[in-house]
Amino acid sequence: MTTHTPSQTNRINNKLNDFWMPFTANRQFKAKPRLLESAEGMYFTSDDGRKILDGTAGLWCCNAGHGRRQITEAVSRQIARLDFAPTFQMGHPLPFELASRLAEIAPAGLNKLFFTNSGSESADTALKIALAYQRAIGQGTRTRLIGRELGYHGVGFGGISVGGMVNNRKAFPLQLPGVDHLPHTLEIERNAFSRGLPQFGIEKADELERLVALHGAENIAAVMVEPMSGSAGVVLPPQGYLQRLREITRKHGILLIFDEVITGFGRVGKAFASERWGVTPDIITCAKGLTNGAIPMGAVLVDDSIYQAFMQGPDGIELFHGYTYSGHPVACAAALATLDIYREEELFERAIELESYWQDALHSLQGLPNVIDIRAVGLVGGVQLAPSNQGVGQRGYQVFEQCFRDDLMVRVTGDTLAMSPPLIVEKGQIDTLVEKLAGAIRKAQ
Ligand SMILES: Cc1ncc(COP(=O)(O)O)c(C=O)c1O
Repeated sequence: MTTHTPSQTNRINNKLNDFWMPFTANRQFKAKPRLLESAEGMYFTSDDGRKILDGTAGLWCCNAGHGRRQITEAVSRQIARLDFAPTFQMGHPLPFELASRLAEIAPAGLNKLFFTNSGSESADTALKIALAYQRAIGQGTRTRLIGRELGYHGVGFGGISVGGMVNNRKAFPLQLPGVDHLPHTLEIERNAFSRGLPQFGIEKADELERLVALHGAENIAAVMVEPMSGSAGVVLPPQGYLQRLREITRKHGILLIFDEVITGFGRVGKAFASERWGVTPDIITCAKGLTNGAIPMGAVLVDDSIYQAFMQGPDGIELFHGYTYSGHPVACAAALATLDIYREEELFERAIELESYWQDALHSLQGLPNVIDIRAVGLVGGVQLAPSNQGVGQRGYQVFEQCFRDDLMVRVTGDTLAMSPPLIVEKGQIDTLVEKLAGAIRKAQ
């Protein structure tokens, strides 16, 4: 007979014990789990059989909704035909095809594609390309990187270094040297309850001039920002801010990188936020919606002139960087099928069409107890609550839990509830989302 120690018995009895969950309060979750078992269209089904309205497109990624047969079939066909092929000094057709398809919807000039497996890898890849590019063009002193407070660029060391979310940084003090941060653009005092992009704050981009004056432009390689910060709680760029960043970076020969891991693929109403807000950076990172979340994949869109700078040296490997799964055949198949759906169902346009309905619906929450700001654009929105006297994040978490009990999935960051429904959402489902959210806000202490 096998005998188990008490801790082994506990492990075996509690099936949830062994998965160290990411960005999760593990003990809280395992004491009171929220488990999802299947998904279709706009809904998850939980392990207790409830249909949960997906207010967040999973984790900002299932932009075409769940269970899309076209994607599932493309994936199963591909895995049967070519499960894997290396892309180091070898190739297969799919990443070439996918690169061309992405170049077609990318902002003009950003027609070279590097493939990764996640948003974090895309961020670190973009930073590495920026540094190597500056050397390639004889500007090797340009080694400094600039990010922004409240920025989120994933969890690699590059990403957390330029990122600006304190909890993601403070336990990992060994970060990249030579990194500065622009101020964030969240300013509730002047911009609370703005419709669309807030009016005030363009001058925050001018901080870049101060950093240039401090370090010398000849020492700065790149600036990396999200056009709209998602993870920090839907922080929108003030009117004119992104244009100003573009002017200053261009003037000083600094590369501008937009992290579009959330804003890419229709979230703000165009293929990329860059197009929506009329500012073309030198590099764009993306992931998530690229495959509708079905298979992990990320991509970095690079301006042609950057790529060409690498093609000038002696023949040989131009960039010593890449992942075993860069351009994985099954991920490419998922991405191609996803792009087909976006085009056939005109889902990016749909985000624009629904934008004012979405804004009206979310802004109807103004006046509810403790609501101190509402920010909405495209099909993304944040509702910020005042912190309770139990501490920052407590009230937000209560609302999040109540929503889940009421069959609605939202995201919570601090005291901000963030919503980003799949772009197939119907008006009636927007109404339901807002009603349930309002109910949960009313109940929160
Ligand atoms: C803007 C941004 N960049 C990077 C990432 C990291 O992506 P991943 O979790 O796929 O590594 C995220 C994830 O939410 C993100 O929102």
